[in-house]
Amino acid sequence: MNTLNSRLPMKSNTPVLGLTRRSFMRRSALASAAVAGAWPFAFAPRLRAQAARPGYPLRLPPELSGDTLTVAPANLAIWPGYSTAVQAINGSVPGPTIRVRRGTEFAARVVNQLAEPLVLHWHGLLAPERMDGHPRDAVAAGQSYQVRFPVNQRAATCWYHAHTDQLTAEQAYRGVAGLFVIEDPNEAALGLPSGDHDLPLVLTDKRSNAQRQLTYAPTMMDVMTGYLGDIVLVNGTPEAWLSVDQGLYRFRLLNGSNARIFKVGFADGHPFHLIATDGGLLPAPVQVTRAMLAPGQRLEILVDFSSYAVGGSVLLQSLSFPASGMGGMGGPQQGTEMDLLRFYVDRAASGAATPPTTLVPFTPYDRARAQRTRVFTLAMSGMVHTINGQLFNLQRVDFAVPFGDLELWEYRNTGTEPHPMHLHAAHCQVVERSGQAQLPPEDAGWKDTVLVEAGETVRVLVRFDAHPGVFVHHCHNLEHEDSGMMQNFEVLPPPPLAIQQTPGRVKISWPDSTQGFQLEATPSLGADAAWQPVTAIPVSAGGRWKVTLTNVAGHHFYRLMKPAF
Ligand code: C2O
Ligand code: CU
Ligand code: CU
Repeated sequence: MNTLNSRLPMKSNTPVLGLTRRSFMRRSALASAAVAGAWPFAFAPRLRAQAARPGYPLRLPPELSGDTLTVAPANLAIWPGYSTAVQAINGSVPGPTIRVRRGTEFAARVVNQLAEPLVLHWHGLLAPERMDGHPRDAVAAGQSYQVRFPVNQRAATCWYHAHTDQLTAEQAYRGVAGLFVIEDPNEAALGLPSGDHDLPLVLTDKRSNAQRQLTYAPTMMDVMTGYLGDIVLVNGTPEAWLSVDQGLYRFRLLNGSNARIFKVGFADGHPFHLIATDGGLLPAPVQVTRAMLAPGQRLEILVDFSSYAVGGSVLLQSLSFPASGMGGMGGPQQGTEMDLLRFYVDRAASGAATPPTTLVPFTPYDRARAQRTRVFTLAMSGMVHTINGQLFNLQRVDFAVPFGDLELWEYRNTGTEPHPMHLHAAHCQVVERSGQAQLPPEDAGWKDTVLVEAGETVRVLVRFDAHPGVFVHHCHNLEHEDSGMMQNFEVLPPPPLAIQQTPGRVKISWPDSTQGFQLEATPSLGADAAWQPVTAIPVSAGGRWKVTLTNVAGHHFYRLMKPAF
């Protein structure tokens, strides 16, 4: 695997942090005195207008306008009357929601106005290698960089967040994260709630002090358990409430916490429908009364408020659950009950309100066709967590995956802490969870983050067929990630096109369609090229042809021009 190492060129402007894993922990303890800018108290007027109810009306993250994401220190009135130092994106925490329609391109300029390196990762999106936000691609303080890639994957609620080497946890905690929604106009036909009945709920737990500062000073113990907070902000709102009608709502939940696992449910046991997990809509809604949501994961739910009288209210909570491991000795605990959001049912329903019976078809991978099994042993070593006995090394590629092969990845958690394992560059399917005859509904559909509880073995099927290159997979407990619970792997380039030329005939062979490839051709060589799927080159058409092979995600790996076919 020696040759792979050379595939990790450092950008010339890449700051080499010069921090050891151990200095991350020391550094973190100093960091709470962090930032102080001079930003306006953006939220204060809206909050005052609604002061009659305890707590604060749920904020909605702004939508991204323009194509610049500026990450900078800011002071926000998260609590009215207080100025809380954060690291904001375009002045907002969470950052602005990015919406991209499937089949279009996403382009943005990322401007780093922090006093430290930064790179953003597009979590859940299949971005090419150098666009994905690998920690090696961080830019120094004051620098900026351009992101551009086509988005051609299932509609889903994704997100974006800091992914800076050894600074991911603190930057994400201080606010460098936002939603990234992939939209698909075909979804409109499903009749799901839309407009003001389709709302994001970004859940993050924080620790705050008497001055309403978000403290971040992880001890060795915090690094081992992950940094747990004692309050929850929903879309950056403390003690949040939302006025609803008696209708049906779609909520897009993201667990943007560093380490907190939520067990989402209503205080009165009110049922709701799970309609989507990380990678988009499920084949059909599943009725549940609670759902586990680990850091990095998304869930979309439908909630029907018609059984509540106008004037009633109901509380969405994180219900208590028995937590494995230390769970934060002496500080906030994993698994404790926490209030998320209170709904006040204020009006009669404004729209029709029955959940659809079917959503989006899902084709399970065939486990029998897995070409190999890879075992990832998650273990504790001293005060940190390792994957297969090792800590992350930015320069080392730990394994290589052939492009397009179906693989069975087995996560064995031999430690005492839960690990939400996240992979870049593909979505996976959970096939087995040790000790459970049936998978819980949260495991359904396309996943990019899979919770592996202490003592559990979880098996997933995965196929990397979007982009070749070096990517990471890691624990999404961000203190675990920053302290080294991460690996580099390389998706090898797909096999090349075979071209055979005989008099009067050119034969092109390509990897078969079961690997996600399709041959397309166009008679036009201009930018207006109309690509058509073909099974053979239409030689009789004559002229100049441009041929490209694309995979399911619409990314081009092969491009060749042959004059006069
Ligand atoms: Cu959401 Cu590699 O992370
Ligand atoms: Cu990711
Ligand atoms: Cu972990």
